[in-house]
Amino acid sequence: MPVNDNESTETRHIKIFDTTLRDGEQSPGASMNLNEKLEVAQMLVELGVDVIEAGFPIASPGDFEAVREIAQTVRGATICGLARCAEKDIDRAWEALKGAPQPRIHVFLATSAIHRQFKLKMTTDEIVERAIAGVTRAANVCDDVEFSPEDAARTEPDFLCRVVEAAITAGATTINIPDTVGYTTPTEFHARIKMLIDRVPNIDKAVISVHCHDDLGMAVANSLAGVQAGAGQVECTINGIGERAGNCSLEEVVMALRTRSDFYKVDTRINTQRLVPASRLVSSTTGMSVQRNKAIVGRNAFAHESGIHQDGMLKEPTTYEIIRPEDVGFAKTDLVLGKHSGRAALADRARQLGFQLTGEQLQAVFERFKDLADKKKEIYDGDITALIQQQISGNNQAEWSLVDYEVRNSRTSTPTVKLTLRRGDEEHSAEVNQGDGPIDAAFWAVEQITGMKVVCKDFQVHSATLGRDAQGETTLEIEYNGKTYRGIGVSTDTVEATILAMLNAVNRIAAETENASEA
Ligand code: KIV
Ligand code: ZN
Repeated sequence: MPVNDNESTETRHIKIFDTTLRDGEQSPGASMNLNEKLEVAQMLVELGVDVIEAGFPIASPGDFEAVREIAQTVRGATICGLARCAEKDIDRAWEALKGAPQPRIHVFLATSAIHRQFKLKMTTDEIVERAIAGVTRAANVCDDVEFSPEDAARTEPDFLCRVVEAAITAGATTINIPDTVGYTTPTEFHARIKMLIDRVPNIDKAVISVHCHDDLGMAVANSLAGVQAGAGQVECTINGIGERAGNCSLEEVVMALRTRSDFYKVDTRINTQRLVPASRLVSSTTGMSVQRNKAIVGRNAFAHESGIHQDGMLKEPTTYEIIRPEDVGFAKTDLVLGKHSGRAALADRARQLGFQLTGEQLQAVFERFKDLADKKKEIYDGDITALIQQQISGNNQAEWSLVDYEVRNSRTSTPTVKLTLRRGDEEHSAEVNQGDGPIDAAFWAVEQITGMKVVCKDFQVHSATLGRDAQGETTLEIEYNGKTYRGIGVSTDTVEATILAMLNAVNRIAAETENASEA
């Protein structure tokens, strides 16, 4: 790989295409409801991404609705929807996208020999024909069309050049080169992008994009190699979430391009101070926590423990710091709110933390904030994030809500939980005397009342802040009818937090069942 391909002194602009709401949402258990997707989309605009891939409209009524709502309401970025190279997919995608001022249809079709032979059972000629038909159909309704030869990194070079040329002739304005299975290496991927630039005669009519998965931990390095070779768009997700090991992490690729702009000679539109709020929002919304030592946004990313490093930092921060924490949005202080803080202070803090609340949401969060302030003297950012998250995830306007509960438990007896839930105007109660502890008993009680038999796949309790009066944040994953659902609940009482998390998951199941019966 040459040291730096970009010999021009001019700074090239790289588009950031965020696919957190599509590829990111494909992570098991990471599915988001409509409110959550709108919140994330709004945050992506604030962050300055160029393109938001909002979903895969044909995949489900919920996906369609989310893409349509984002297309109609979110302003400031291109809104994109995914479609296979099939008429019904493309028509459905356009139906969802047409309300956006800048819509993009993203059509994809696998091109590698493995996919052709085992998945599609199609010849190379048939693939080219199908790609042309798909791109043409999309280009007839939408000026902005992206084409992805799925598994491009493992596609025979000659055939890849042939498909790409045909897609551009048919009207594709962006050609995205996915490393679908995270198999390539930086040197190899660089050569592949360079080959397309050198060999596809009409390549100058399209922007080349890169889309790398992280199965071998090289998604960011491969994307950077693609940029170095001439790609003009990077596809990525917040916190690197996505299928299997995930996608290229937005915060890492953006900060690599910015910190080493001397080397890459490119820029992006990203407002880097919004990276940490965006990471926190996606982490709390999807329930996928960020590892402490994660580059850029991990809690320890800027923590210096060794005496030698601390000494160096005190003398001159650049001795051990290549990025200033405030440049990626780490707050200098964890501002404390309390009983006497008003709605405006809460709204301001919520905004700083990356949330755009509607008046109604703010009112609901404010009421819970006041309740919490009665129990807890000092309210930290973690508390506010937890309250807002609970509101956005729909606990408060859900089908099933908590009225009251009572727990009896000791070391020697079987736990008893008396639980009352509300559904519509009716209250439903159950008393169970089973389980290996109060949490297990609470699960049994929720199952008994809602009639939903679920399997708990993951259960975690974290404290939202420090101190013994901290709120407990329960996140769980349950399986119902072969699908995974996530729930989050927050309270200063962990049994209550668990019941709320369980109801949050149960309400996701109820909403999906309702959506499916309406479709
Ligand atoms: O990884 C992949 O190949 C994809 C395509 C749909 C772009 O996500
Ligand atoms: Zn992908």
